[in-house]
Amino acid sequence: MTKAGRRHFIKTFGCQMNVYDSERMSEALGVSGFTAADEPESADLLILNTCHIREKAAEKVYSELGRLRQIKAAREKDGHRTTIAIAGCVAQAEGREILTRAPVVDLVVGPQSYHRLGDLVRQAEGSGGGVVDVDFPEDDKFKHLPARTASRRAPAAFLTVQEGCDKFCTFCVVPYTRGVEYSRPVREIVEEAERLAAAGVCELTLLGQNVNAYHGQSEDGASWSLARLLVRLAEIPAIERLRYTTSHPRDMSDDLIAVHGSQNKVMPYLHLPFQAGSNRILGAMNRKHTREEYLDLVRRIREARPDMALSTDIIVGFPGETDADFEQTLQLVDEVNFAQAYSFKFSARPGTPAETMDDQVPDEIKSVRLQELQAMLSAQQTAFNASCVGRRFDVLFERHGRRPGQLVGRSPYLQAVHADGADELMGRMIEVEILRAGPNSLEADILSVADSSQLVMAAV
Ligand code: 5AD
Ligand code: SF4
Repeated sequence: MTKAGRRHFIKTFGCQMNVYDSERMSEALGVSGFTAADEPESADLLILNTCHIREKAAEKVYSELGRLRQIKAAREKDGHRTTIAIAGCVAQAEGREILTRAPVVDLVVGPQSYHRLGDLVRQAEGSGGGVVDVDFPEDDKFKHLPARTASRRAPAAFLTVQEGCDKFCTFCVVPYTRGVEYSRPVREIVEEAERLAAAGVCELTLLGQNVNAYHGQSEDGASWSLARLLVRLAEIPAIERLRYTTSHPRDMSDDLIAVHGSQNKVMPYLHLPFQAGSNRILGAMNRKHTREEYLDLVRRIREARPDMALSTDIIVGFPGETDADFEQTLQLVDEVNFAQAYSFKFSARPGTPAETMDDQVPDEIKSVRLQELQAMLSAQQTAFNASCVGRRFDVLFERHGRRPGQLVGRSPYLQAVHADGADELMGRMIEVEILRAGPNSLEADILSVADSSQLVMAAV
């Protein structure tokens, strides 16, 4: 039996996949009679959707639980029963251990069990806690999750097309937390995309830990590549922009590169992690590519789409990394010239081969290297932003800025773009001219609004 009027609150850590999962969990809970609360204090069910990728991310869960423990105690003093659930990758990695370390937790649910969330919550409520579900079921969880709701939503949405990873980079927990590679069938994805489009979405970001390894089945039994899937999704008229993340260099096939040249809806922006610039370290990381192969790939991508901008992920201080190895990372960054990048100190993760490798790099050295690398990356980002001044872009406006009358949207290169404009432009793709650039955002003038030019407010 569902009790009416119950509220849930989900706090999300980690990657975009978790953002997507939180949305699906929220929809699944809707079927069980829950609506979303605005703040944790008014929620009967508190969920932390967690990340395990680096130690810092995983430890956040426990500090956050301290806060939730107080909220739960205060609510229960007022007679409001409160259930605390840990979802996501820490749930998958630590399972039952979480209950020992944090007895305030009532339910631990791994990413492959979200379609059972309603039942699991009922079980946890019935038994007063102690429920753990971190199985990797044979069956496809997506098939059992309720279809995406058609209620109006933000104009840009995530859509998970692939989960898990078989690459086994030696630093990475993903193969353990998200399991082996799995591609959703084409039809399921197209239907979800069409529903999202009907609900007002015009930009889709296809997600997967190894998204360009996508090989989903079509209805006639054929295996479709990501390139083919993108071409199919581009046929949905309301979908104006397509992105995908995260890609592995090894799976950047010729047909996918070609799609960037032939499909205008596929954005000229690609997140392509290379992790390290030295072949010796790449080998120890089990990355399955060399620096030369990465550079050649970048060359071919830019040949297919000259205005392509790249972003990447880099790790410093992997076990055994010398100054000379690190120098090669800097050189590679210099050669490619990234529009954006994420860089991290190596974090030894439980159960991964790199955790126990010899020659762990001291934290002080990691810090110095990270600082040097980040200085170079932020100079490249600032230069890329500056190179956009005077260019004309379509911007998808998604939210209000801090100043009244200011709208904020995304450029094709995912830069935040601020412009003065009428509310009616929200959720629409509008042509702008870039006036000014900062390290993290751009300012623009709205140029023209084809079908409702009267909506444009004069910039003051
Ligand atoms: N230590 C540091 N960074 C890591 N990443 C993944 N695992 C680790 C780790 N053990 C980084 C990689 C990856 C990004 C999502 O997180 O750069 O691409
Ligand atoms: Fe973190 Fe990886 Fe899980 Fe995303 S998939 S939440 S990055 S551990």
